[in-house]
Amino acid sequence: MAEKKRELVLSGVQPSAAQVHLGNYLGAMKRFVTLSQQYDTIVCIVDLHALTTVWDAQALRENTVSLAAAYLAIGMEPSRAIIFRQSDVAEVCELTWYLACQFPLGLLERATSLKDAKAKAKVVNSGLMYYPVLMAADILLYRSTKVPVGADQKQHLEMTREVAQKFNNAYGDVFPLPEPLIEEDTGVIVGLDGRKMSKSYDNYIGLFEDSKKVRKKVMKIVTDSKSVEDEKDPDTCNVFTLYKFFASQQEQAALAEKYRAGGMGYGEAKQALFESIEREISPMRDKYNDLMSRPDDLRDVLADGARRAREIAGVTMASVREAVGVGSIL
Ligand code: TYM
Repeated sequence: MAEKKRELVLSGVQPSAAQVHLGNYLGAMKRFVTLSQQYDTIVCIVDLHALTTVWDAQALRENTVSLAAAYLAIGMEPSRAIIFRQSDVAEVCELTWYLACQFPLGLLERATSLKDAKAKAKVVNSGLMYYPVLMAADILLYRSTKVPVGADQKQHLEMTREVAQKFNNAYGDVFPLPEPLIEEDTGVIVGLDGRKMSKSYDNYIGLFEDSKKVRKKVMKIVTDSKSVEDEKDPDTCNVFTLYKFFASQQEQAALAEKYRAGGMGYGEAKQALFESIEREISPMRDKYNDLMSRPDDLRDVLADGARRAREIAGVTMASVREAVGVGSIL
């Protein structure tokens, strides 16, 4: 294997649902695989973040196993990347506290994710407010330098950089400033209703849902009400927006032409989208289903990942404790 460059890529996904969705895959996870071939890479199942919304212990465990299988099914290999569960390295909570003491309250109050949570629920638990601090701790605990995320996480990365800078100003150069890797062209992936694809809007297509369900959901994607004969605009159509991620340039040009010519109903475009999704996802789905039938193997992968992650975290925490004045007295 060619030697990897001296950067550390880290990212995380919440096990907040039985399955991740196409937004997670297209916005972030797909890139983890290519990055892991170039750089040292850590991918995390952020179960502590998921505790802000998942309060069923068994569901959290099942979602965690499913996410481990998803990482492997999309092509992550334990020989190329550390795949682990966030709560297996408890130091992340300790670091969260040290960072919280440098994190301006106003910054947390301005977080878009907190505003969204407040708009959705009457009672917002304070875990949702500390969410960006815990995320910063994930990134800084492993001294990560590159963080591939979807466009919706941009503000969290800015906060991470700001708190790392504040910490370094107070205590010396402890953390490298992590660089977000956000694909501006990809942007935020839209769901069935045209809003951001999200579990909480129930507008998502599960990455490994069976093909019948995927088809049913694709057929539900909201379009305008133009008739078959009408000329249509691919650039403003939710179906075409998703199609672009799964089809070749040639296929995209051909379908765009049909939109513009008129005489094509949205049903036909949806069928083309469904087939293109199936082409890419179905081999991974087979792998996912096979992995889910071997949960012990998945647990082994996570146990090994936790051991390797703990080693890195231990080194960082020794210098963090020293820097802030806890740990050894002398
Ligand atoms: P989460 O679990 O909400 O999403 C995981 C990844 O999927 C991306 N994503 C999307 N991208 C484009 N369009 C969408 N509709 C869409 N929905 C989700 C997210 O941007 C993310 O990259 N706070 C993070 C998890 C986290 C993390 C970290 C990430 C915790 N610690 C450290 C990076 C580094 C989150 O809630 O992601």
